[in-house]
Amino acid sequence: MAADRHPGGMPFVRVNAGDAESIQVLTDLYNAARVVDDPTSPPAIAELVAGEVEFGWDLHPDTRYLYTAPGADSPVGLLAVDLPIYDNLQLMWAEILVHPDHRRQGHGTVLMKEALRQAREAGRTIIWVGTAEDDLGARAFVERFGFNYASHDARRRQQLADVDSGELARLYEQAEEAAKDYRLERLMSPVPEEVLAELVEVTAAINDAPAGDLTYEDEVFDLARLREIETARQKRGDLMYRIVARHKETGEAAGHTVVVYNALRPKRAGQGDTAVARDHRGHRLGMLLKIAMMQWLAGEQPQLESIETWNNADNSYMINVNEAIGYRLSRIYNMYELKLEGAKPYGQASEDASEKVYSASS
Ligand SMILES: CC(C)(COP(=O)(O)OP(=O)(O)OC[C@H]1O[C@@H](n2cnc3c(N)ncnc32)[C@H](O)[C@@H]1OP(=O)(O)O)[C@@H](O)C(=O)NCCC(=O)NCCS
Repeated sequence: MAADRHPGGMPFVRVNAGDAESIQVLTDLYNAARVVDDPTSPPAIAELVAGEVEFGWDLHPDTRYLYTAPGADSPVGLLAVDLPIYDNLQLMWAEILVHPDHRRQGHGTVLMKEALRQAREAGRTIIWVGTAEDDLGARAFVERFGFNYASHDARRRQQLADVDSGELARLYEQAEEAAKDYRLERLMSPVPEEVLAELVEVTAAINDAPAGDLTYEDEVFDLARLREIETARQKRGDLMYRIVARHKETGEAAGHTVVVYNALRPKRAGQGDTAVARDHRGHRLGMLLKIAMMQWLAGEQPQLESIETWNNADNSYMINVNEAIGYRLSRIYNMYELKLEGAKPYGQASEDASEKVYSASS
């Protein structure tokens, strides 16, 4: 850290796992921005940020850099770059953040140029960035670099105290009736190897969720990757509550839902994937799984106050389920895409999105 604190030092310094000082600076930066950009989100916690930096969500974390402008004595911004390794090998996800006290001084531009330089160096030709839909300044910023709007995701929160329990019981009964050929199974991580193997196809069903005009190919899941996701969560101190729906007759895993909880943030949990395999759609399994999860969590984590979920804003199937059980819209985030020279269309991108059957995503 010391080297970037004086003029002439490296402007970009990578935040390494275990570097508590840099992780604290990063956390402080997130919190300074949070107050201005997203005041309803919970404060960043250094221990949780440390886990993200070290393990990411699948043991292949993004790379984060602190940026110190020439002449400044402390970092004013950050850059995070994520290069998928299993699929979407053309892609780079970038995150750029400038401390609110230091905006409109060209720092964001330096960070973006560095992101583009790294993309070229890594041979990545498609770049994605996300900003709040209502943040027109951030939009103006990314459009200056040639990014185009490509998709949008909605963040919803469910305040558990506000949920109508009578309505929930009614919906559960209906779903149970439609899904009477299925039984539910509660699973905590680590999930036994043979069960995890069964979840590969169910997990991959998330690829059927809409993704607007983003250029991408289906994410590839196999047993090893599912194990990596579980291990990353475990190492971050997260509990993964998972409920699997099984077809009674065949025993086949038909769908699942996952909620992630961390004791450092005991009142808020995060919805992970909810997905139903294609052959098992149309039996209200999404609704059944999600209400069953609420019932389980009420017993296990009674202090929980809210659960947050993200869906593509066009994923009407999942959003209808979420709204019915009390989730309410918090904010929309836009995804913008930039194609560099040499970018090739994926088969996926040219498909007509309206022909897909949506049942996936949280
Ligand atoms: C978006 C963000 C990174 C811009 O950082 P910055 O250091 O202010 O950016 P720059 O000073 O390099 O701005 C470059 C140009 O972008 C445009 N721009 C940036 N912020 C703008 C704003 N709030 N309103 C209108 N235009 C804006 C302007 O054209 C600006 O040039 P100008 O100041 O000469 O008019 C910063 O506001 C931020 O961190 N926002 C929250 C995080 C986020 O949304 N990041 C999205 C990018 S991945």
